[in-house]
Amino acid sequence: MNHPSDILTADALSRRHFLKKGSTAMVGGALLGTLAAERFAHAASTDELKIALIGCGGRGSGAAEQALNTSNLGPVKLVAAADVHEDRLKGALNNLKAKHAGRVDVPEDRQFVGFDGYEKAIACADVVILATPPGFRPAMFEAAVKAGKHVFMEKPVASDAAGVRQVLAAAEEAKKKNLKVGVGLQRHHSNGYIETVKRIQDGQIGDVTSARAFWNGSRPWQKKRSALEQQYGRKLTEMEYQLRNWYYFTWLCGDHIAEQHIHNLDVINWVKNAYPVKARAMGGREITNSPDDGEIYDHFACQFEYADGSIMFSECRQQPGCWSSVSEHVVGTKGRANVGRHEITGADAWRYKGGGKDAYQQEHDALFAAIRDNKDFNEAVNGAMSTMTAILGRMAAYSGKEIEWQAALNSKIELVPKELGWDKPAPVSPGADGYYPRAIPGRTAVL
Ligand SMILES: NC(=O)c1ccc[n+]([C@@H]2O[C@H](COP(=O)([O-])OP(=O)(O)OC[C@H]3O[C@@H](n4cnc5c(N)ncnc54)[C@H](O)[C@@H]3O)[C@@H](O)[C@H]2O)c1
Repeated sequence: MNHPSDILTADALSRRHFLKKGSTAMVGGALLGTLAAERFAHAASTDELKIALIGCGGRGSGAAEQALNTSNLGPVKLVAAADVHEDRLKGALNNLKAKHAGRVDVPEDRQFVGFDGYEKAIACADVVILATPPGFRPAMFEAAVKAGKHVFMEKPVASDAAGVRQVLAAAEEAKKKNLKVGVGLQRHHSNGYIETVKRIQDGQIGDVTSARAFWNGSRPWQKKRSALEQQYGRKLTEMEYQLRNWYYFTWLCGDHIAEQHIHNLDVINWVKNAYPVKARAMGGREITNSPDDGEIYDHFACQFEYADGSIMFSECRQQPGCWSSVSEHVVGTKGRANVGRHEITGADAWRYKGGGKDAYQQEHDALFAAIRDNKDFNEAVNGAMSTMTAILGRMAAYSGKEIEWQAALNSKIELVPKELGWDKPAPVSPGADGYYPRAIPGRTAVL
């Protein structure tokens, strides 16, 4: 078998390439009273699906709720939870119990706190929700697939190219094991997006010549070291601080081009049915300048080039008081589309008028229906490729160089440490002034 990274040459960057490669082999993965994946080929809607939540923060809690809301398709129960922080784990479980009393059964002995808790939670479940910061996703996804579990994992699926390669390899393994994998790029489950993308792909705006993607807004939450130390009444180890304030560290979050802007980049990849072959970019920090801003940039402006020569112009910015937009736009030879507004202008104008469920719920409905009906469902490859698109843009901006897809994907730089623990060294450290080193275009190496 080819290693997935071997087949991702520039001329093979077509989504169809992956979709063609269906899987047939089925390997059971029953562990600790959970259902073997192969049973679902003949599963009754009465089979109870046991769910484990790994990463019990805001999105993990939301995803667990959406998974439990699929009870109309068959019984579901949250049976295990894991988090590095006990307070997050308890808080999420209390909220979930209040909303889904009969469907949350996570006694103390299935609450796993610590860096290795995920392995124990995976062992308890049929379906695993991965919603930690993305830096941990590749190892957790690999472990879930190894254990034969279905997965819902949040985007982005990695923070570096090594992680993307790991996810691609595990995705292939998941296909062989007939495991179903959902990825939190929920626009793929929004009826309005689906209809608009289909119309573009069917030629309603002619040939696509360029596209624009934006996530311009302000900074999200931030956990200041001083406030954390006051809250806990002690000094935090560097690792603990970075995990609490994970958004601001590239090894954990991938920078905001990956953390947020991936949604918009992914939509254009979807429209193009392809992934970029290279990127040029600018970026830096203009207004964020405190040690708690960690190492990430506050703006990126990228040009992604596809194999057919068309360009996606992308901007993401975290600067309050500026023009803001979270949107995707496509220009064709016969018209234009505002994809997020589900609108086409030009000779054949159209606007989506249908309704549709919340896409966050629909993505879970689709995953759980696929598990129960044994339908092909594996979003991991696209999740990895769109994550890589964002990482490619980040590499181009950090280095100031034009970067080719294949070189980026083969990058030897691994951001996530192999050894994790509260007293283990964090991969980046502040200088004597408290500031973290940041990427300097023209000087920073990314390959
Ligand atoms: N699809 C979407 O629209 C969407 C929206 C929000 C967040 N997300 C994604 O969800 C993920 C989580 O974001 P969030 O907003 O919930 O963050 P969060 O900080 O609220 O939650 C993350 C949780 O993971 C825990 N954690 C950290 N490291 C861990 C480890 N090694 N093992 C176990 N637990 C660990 C943290 O303690 C925390 O409870 C991110 O990848 C984010 O991009 C997606």
